Amino acid sequence: MPDWKNPPRLFIPGPVKVNDDVLKQLARPTLGHRGKEYAMLHKETVDMLKTILFTQQNVFLSTSSASGLWEAAIRNCVGFDEKVLCACCGAFSDKWADVAASCGRQVEALKVEWGRPTLPEMIDEKLATGQFAALTIVHNETSTGLMNPVADISAMMKRKYPDVLIFVDSVSGMVGLPLKFDEWGWDVAFASVQKAFAIPPGLTVAAVSHRALDKSKKVPGRGYYFDFQEFAKAAEKNQTPTTPAIPHIMALHYQCTKLVAEGMENVWRRHKEMGDFVRDWATRKFGLFCDPKYASNTLTTVKNTRSINVAEVIAAVQAKHNTAFGNGYKKLKEQTFRIAHMGDISLGDLKELLGWIDAEIG
Ligand SMILES: Cc1ncc(COP(=O)(O)O)c(C=O)c1O
Repeated sequence: MPDWKNPPRLFIPGPVKVNDDVLKQLARPTLGHRGKEYAMLHKETVDMLKTILFTQQNVFLSTSSASGLWEAAIRNCVGFDEKVLCACCGAFSDKWADVAASCGRQVEALKVEWGRPTLPEMIDEKLATGQFAALTIVHNETSTGLMNPVADISAMMKRKYPDVLIFVDSVSGMVGLPLKFDEWGWDVAFASVQKAFAIPPGLTVAAVSHRALDKSKKVPGRGYYFDFQEFAKAAEKNQTPTTPAIPHIMALHYQCTKLVAEGMENVWRRHKEMGDFVRDWATRKFGLFCDPKYASNTLTTVKNTRSINVAEVIAAVQAKHNTAFGNGYKKLKEQTFRIAHMGDISLGDLKELLGWIDAEIG
C-alpha cells in the first residue's frame, strides 16, 4: 500500500532522494526575511552559488519551481518585437518553446528527434539568418537523458553571435554537469533544487548576466513575481522581493557548503562515475536510448530492448524494497525507463538498485 509518510527512496529523475541531514535543515527555526539573520544566510548562500556556477554576476533565489524561470527568461529579456530560437530535443525543451509562445513572443522551434543532441552547426545555420535575439536550450533533457553540447554551442555563439542572448534550462544539469556561466557567456541559467542539489522541491536557483539584467529594464510587461529588476533591487540588501522559502534556503546553504568543500571538478567527476556505472549496466543488460557520447551523467534512459513490463518491475522493486525508479517519459513509457544518478545518490545506492532490478528481470 502506498504511504506518503513512508515514501520510497527516489531514483526517479527528480525529485531525488534527500538525505536526513539535509531534511533536518528544513526544520530549523525560521527567520524574519527582512532581518539581519536572513540577509546573512542569503549572502552566504549566493556567494557559494557564485563559486558553484563560476559566475561573478547575479544569482537570484526564486520561491517557485523551475518552470517559473522559463517564463522569467522570456518575459524579462525578449521584446515583443523580437524573435527567440528555441532548441527542442525532448519534452522539457519543447515545453519551453510553448511557454515562450504563450508569453506572446515570436518563437521558432529548432526540433531534433528525441534522444538526439542539438549541435552547434544547427544553431549556427538558424542564427545566420540574423532574425534572432535569443536562444533557449536545455543543458540536460530529463525526458530522454541527453546532454546537449552546451560548451561547444556557447563557444560558437561567442565567436559568431555575441549579441544573441543564451538562456539555459539546467534543471537536471546544474551541479551534476560542468557549467561555467561567465566563461560560456550565458545570460540566464536555472535549476530547481529537487534535482542535483538534492533538496525537496520548492526553490529555484537562477544566474542572470549583467547584460540580461540591463536588457530587462527596457522590456515592458515583465509582471511582478519574476521581474529581474525586483530581484536585483532586493539582492542589494541580500533579500528577495517576496517572502522566500527560508527552510529551503537553509538546506541550500548546507548543500552548497558541501559542494564548495568537495570542489566542482570533483562533484562533476563523481556524477560521471555514477553515469559510467549505470551506462555500463544498461549496455550489458539492455541498451542506451541516447548516443553514449551525449548520454547524461545525471540520469540514464535505458532502452527496453528485452521488452520487460517496466511498470511491473517498478512496482515489484517498490513493493519489496520501498525504492522507486522512473518509467519512460510520456511517449517513451515502457519503451524506456529512467534511473537518476545525481545529488546525494551514491554508487552504493545504485549498486543496490541495479541488483534489485536484475533480480526482477532474471
Ligand atoms: C529539464 C527540465 N526543465 C524544466 C523542468 C520543470 O521544472 P519544475 O518541475 O521545477 O518546474 C523539469 C522538471 O523535471 C526538467 O526536467
